[in-house]
Amino acid sequence: MTGFPGVRPRRLRRTAALRRLVEETRLAPAEMVLPLFVREGLTEPREVASLPGVLQHSRDSLRKAAAEAVRAGVGGLMLFGVPEHRDETGTGGTDPDGVLNAALRDVVAEVGDATVVMGDLCLDEFTSHGHCGVLAADGTVDNDATLARYAEMGLAQAAAGAHVLGLSGMMDGQVGAVRQALDQAGYPDVAVLAYAAKYASACYGPFRDAVESTLVGDRKSYQQDPPNLREALREVALDVAEGADLVMVKPALPYLDVIAAVRAAVTVPVAAYQVSGEYAMVEAAAANGWLDRDRVMLETLTSIRRAGAQVILTYWAVAAAHLLNRSA
Ligand code: PBG
Repeated sequence: MTGFPGVRPRRLRRTAALRRLVEETRLAPAEMVLPLFVREGLTEPREVASLPGVLQHSRDSLRKAAAEAVRAGVGGLMLFGVPEHRDETGTGGTDPDGVLNAALRDVVAEVGDATVVMGDLCLDEFTSHGHCGVLAADGTVDNDATLARYAEMGLAQAAAGAHVLGLSGMMDGQVGAVRQALDQAGYPDVAVLAYAAKYASACYGPFRDAVESTLVGDRKSYQQDPPNLREALREVALDVAEGADLVMVKPALPYLDVIAAVRAAVTVPVAAYQVSGEYAMVEAAAANGWLDRDRVMLETLTSIRRAGAQVILTYWAVAAAHLLNRSA
């Protein structure tokens, strides 16, 4: 009993039907985006050891995975390319026949407009040093020289048919530079998803295995410092001013406060990236029998949604879609 006679919040929790009726946050496959890796030179897909259930795809298996995601009702696909060879300036990212651009063409040919096809627009998979940009003579990441490379990469992905470009490099001015290049080259309809608030997180470890990252050191000179929230709002405001169509917070679960603050600050759609480490932690615990994977999966996704993200990038996109489609 509360101190108020007759007031009993538990009344609305009594049955599944009552709980369903008053549910404030509901997940749907349509708002989930599946990250996919395509590895140059593979003939068979290969599982990523630190991401159980996630594959490095061959071009062929990628098409099949894309079609499967569409059948599950997944809202979008985010493609990452893993090239066989890397160089100083990451030419594999701008080469029209580079693994990512070729894969974007394949996937667009496979799924058309049935889901949203996105390309990761960043150089780290393509540079020999593994940084997200090109280096100056002193070894630091050269912001403005990188913008020119991002503009070229954006045009290559637009030419390959990508619907949305995911700018994940955290260079200053990247949204404006890519937007201007797209508009000038006749791609005004290609949208920009800005990784506006991307933190220098320790949760990207398994992703770096998935893309065979060559990075030595860290990305702290361009990704955000985890203690900072107001800085995220500044990044987001700049990206929106530069023309971002969607803004993203990354990682997701350790940054729910940032998601909520961004949601309150902007009117563009807010996305969040449930990153590789978030996925791996739960998968590892579940494999040990310590957590119920499916329940934790849906609980974390619901929390990210409740915090204010309306689009979620997650390696569980298809698995979650199957669970949701079954319970619907
Ligand atoms: C870099 C990029 C990273 C991720 C997506 N894009 C890693 C990084 O910044 O080192 C991480 C995603 C994940 O961990 O799932 N372009």
